Amino acid sequence: MTIRNIGVLTSGGDSPGMNAAIRAVVRTSIYNGINVFGIRHGYQGMIDGDINSLLTTDVSNIIQRGGTILKTARSKDFMTAEGRAKAYAALKSHNIDGLILIGGDGTFRGAVKFFEEHTIPAVGLPGTIDKDLAGTDFTIGFDTAVNTAVSAIDKIRDTAEAHDRVFVIELMGRDAGYIALNSGIACGAEDILIPETATHIEEVLNRIEADGKRKKTVQIIVVAEGDDFGGAAEVYNAIRKRLPELDVRTCVLGHIQRGGSPSFADRVLASRLGHAAVNALITGNTQVMAGVVNDRVVFTPFDKVVKGNTPISPDMIDMIRVLSV
Ligand code: F6P
Repeated sequence: MTIRNIGVLTSGGDSPGMNAAIRAVVRTSIYNGINVFGIRHGYQGMIDGDINSLLTTDVSNIIQRGGTILKTARSKDFMTAEGRAKAYAALKSHNIDGLILIGGDGTFRGAVKFFEEHTIPAVGLPGTIDKDLAGTDFTIGFDTAVNTAVSAIDKIRDTAEAHDRVFVIELMGRDAGYIALNSGIACGAEDILIPETATHIEEVLNRIEADGKRKKTVQIIVVAEGDDFGGAAEVYNAIRKRLPELDVRTCVLGHIQRGGSPSFADRVLASRLGHAAVNALITGNTQVMAGVVNDRVVFTPFDKVVKGNTPISPDMIDMIRVLSV
């Protein structure tokens, strides 16, 4: 089937590099003689028919910008069959015969449901800071988010050192600890608590206490928001209760991790995948997400992207303890 009109959307939490991906999708489509339509506010815009034509000039000067010019949302309506039927009707009324979906886990779960009920060729791009998708070594925005967290934690360590303080720093990652793990390692954190490994708080407290006895008073404890023990507040309370003599502070880094100009790595990844996704649509390689594995573009079916596991490398977990002695 010849694709004539592609619709592109960004969905779920925004991530730095989404604009670079939109730019690549628009320009690759137009280069191939295909019209492109921007669907605003993710799946919600599909339902509402918030769909407008995009030209090459509409994506000028956005490769370096965070956020998403198409805006994004987590649509409750799209979770209903009625909402999805409305979305399909809106696509048909704009003669859209191909879709590019840029988003994370929720986006592809939505896609799986949508394509069970409606038929339209689609290719996905991994756009999430969380890096919690199978089928790709990196997701668009992860590198930038980690760099943002690293620069913040470095600053916090300066003041922690000055005051001999313990800092509990909460990073994003509702279900995944990749941001916390990588930022923590890069900043020499004394401990890193992530949802993928069970947190034994007594062990954490014992170690902090033992470190204190040998005059290692500064502690940077990085915790992913989705850790099984809890976030920064819970860890702070546990430390205060057991070791009230310590000077402890918390910092929840929050949405600063989602914004900012994308790193070169995210811009290149987004450009490669946007370009590859449109070419995949043209050649009929659809209902797949484009990813990069071992520096090669690969395509993975949507249902495998969300159901596949994304294990943390055990060497990284082992290393935390060793490098913080
Ligand atoms: O999925 C990206 C993410 O930033 C998660 O790390 C975080 O748990 C969530 O989005 C926060 O979502 P919201 O911006 O809706 O609060």
